[in-house]
Amino acid sequence: SNRIMLGPLVAAIDQGTSSTRFLVFNAKTAELLSHHQVEIKQSFPKEGWVEEDPKEILQSVYECMDRTCEKLTQLNIDISNIKAIGVTNQRETTLVWDKETGEPLYNAIVWLDLRTQSTVERLINKTPGRNKNHLKHKTGLPISTYFSAVKLRWLMDNVEKVHEAVLSHRAMFGTVDSWLIWVITPYFQCLTGGKKGGVHCTDVTNASRTMLFNIHTLDWDPELCTYFDIPMEILPKVRSSSEIYGLMCLGDQSAALVGQMCFKDGQAKNTYGTGCFLLKNVGTKPVMSDHGLLTTVAYKLGRDKPACYALEGSVAIAGAVVRWLKDNLGIIQTSTELEKLAADVGTSYGCYFVPAFSGLYAPYWEPSARGIICGLTQFTNRSHLAFAALEAVCFQTREILDAMNQDSGIHLSQLQVDGGMTSNRLLMQLQADILCIPVVKPSMPETTALGAAMAAGAAEGVSVWSLNPEDLTEVTSEKFEPQINPEGPLYWWTTGTLLETSRRHVMTPKVH
Ligand code: G3P
Repeated sequence: SNRIMLGPLVAAIDQGTSSTRFLVFNAKTAELLSHHQVEIKQSFPKEGWVEEDPKEILQSVYECMDRTCEKLTQLNIDISNIKAIGVTNQRETTLVWDKETGEPLYNAIVWLDLRTQSTVERLINKTPGRNKNHLKHKTGLPISTYFSAVKLRWLMDNVEKVHEAVLSHRAMFGTVDSWLIWVITPYFQCLTGGKKGGVHCTDVTNASRTMLFNIHTLDWDPELCTYFDIPMEILPKVRSSSEIYGLMCLGDQSAALVGQMCFKDGQAKNTYGTGCFLLKNVGTKPVMSDHGLLTTVAYKLGRDKPACYALEGSVAIAGAVVRWLKDNLGIIQTSTELEKLAADVGTSYGCYFVPAFSGLYAPYWEPSARGIICGLTQFTNRSHLAFAALEAVCFQTREILDAMNQDSGIHLSQLQVDGGMTSNRLLMQLQADILCIPVVKPSMPETTALGAAMAAGAAEGVSVWSLNPEDLTEVTSEKFEPQINPEGPLYWWTTGTLLETSRRHVMTPKVH
């Protein structure tokens, strides 16, 4: 037949909070050849709880792989040319499964989940000076509901099956990367030697989000494990982000940093997904923040390569606010309608929206905050609300950027962006206006997947990207210049201004 000869291809599984994608790139040109996307269901069994079904996550991966391969075959592209597959994933989301049966022992507890709020408050209260940064010197993280350790603790204390599996040495803990690699590697027998049950591993970027990992030694930390009372035998082996263990993995925000080619100290990117995450490469020495940012492992692209670190400003709710307007309020039918609705009015007309659905993350780390909408008048309509929702994403990013600038003393001169929401041009312009610096968006927005595919291709020696900043070709991009006068009146709030109000709106649930 008329097979198209393209040479080696590299692929990525991108398992995000809201959807799963599989994407195949030309390993020489980085051109995206085909992809498929499947939405992931989330369940909210109780107020503040967020869960996903591990088997559905797995099925969505298979479905995306099958459909993408079908599309490639229709294009006459030979799928046996796929030489490496990278895995990139929503970070922190916590799973436990049975080593013998391979069965998940509970739903995945999603990073946004707040069920551990009281545990976190109790742990902080026990520290000298009620210091939420008590473990930061080792982990780079504040004690928070966000990270895996407290979710794993909850599973061990509250789910009988998990408790039993731990006692009988059958429990395996992992984030989504570990779960996928464990199940999928037996299918890539040539790569893993056909070992039964796959391999139980994770990479440094995902491990650095558990609160059990020492970001200096790059290993699980016995003291942290004792602190959270987690048996170390249930933890996966930690590898670098670009190493051959069947499939390579890299947390999604790290993958985006790689995909945006931010390999140099001081380069930064902001990814607008379910949440929004601004990461700045700080080089090979971890830098601790004085302004509420996290220190995290950015990547380690090979066993013998040094780890690079990032300062990260995490915003819990970005794209999730759009899904909320669609699913909970029903003011839009599809996410893409939001831009038009907001553009109809071009202003929030004094309406403010703090979408603190899962507490506030950086720079506040306030689990008790909740969302508020204020400034309503009889004039306010759904368009103003839509506009306020977009502004909320921009304002939160502004606060992160301010913290980052204060931490380093050097001001970022432009912001590289990516992720699903960046197709919203109104959002991009608003973001440039609110940051007062240009916002630069690559023409191929699937940067996270590209980064994972690049890491996998580099490990397999098939991609031409040597992951060397000097060798990288310029990517085409679009620039949004700020159009408001930076000397003019400040018209934005900061979440901080409204923080007290959001705290007051916390309802204590009635105990029946
Ligand atoms: O830390 C959570 C983050 O990794 C999730 O990313 O793209 O699913 O919002 P995303």
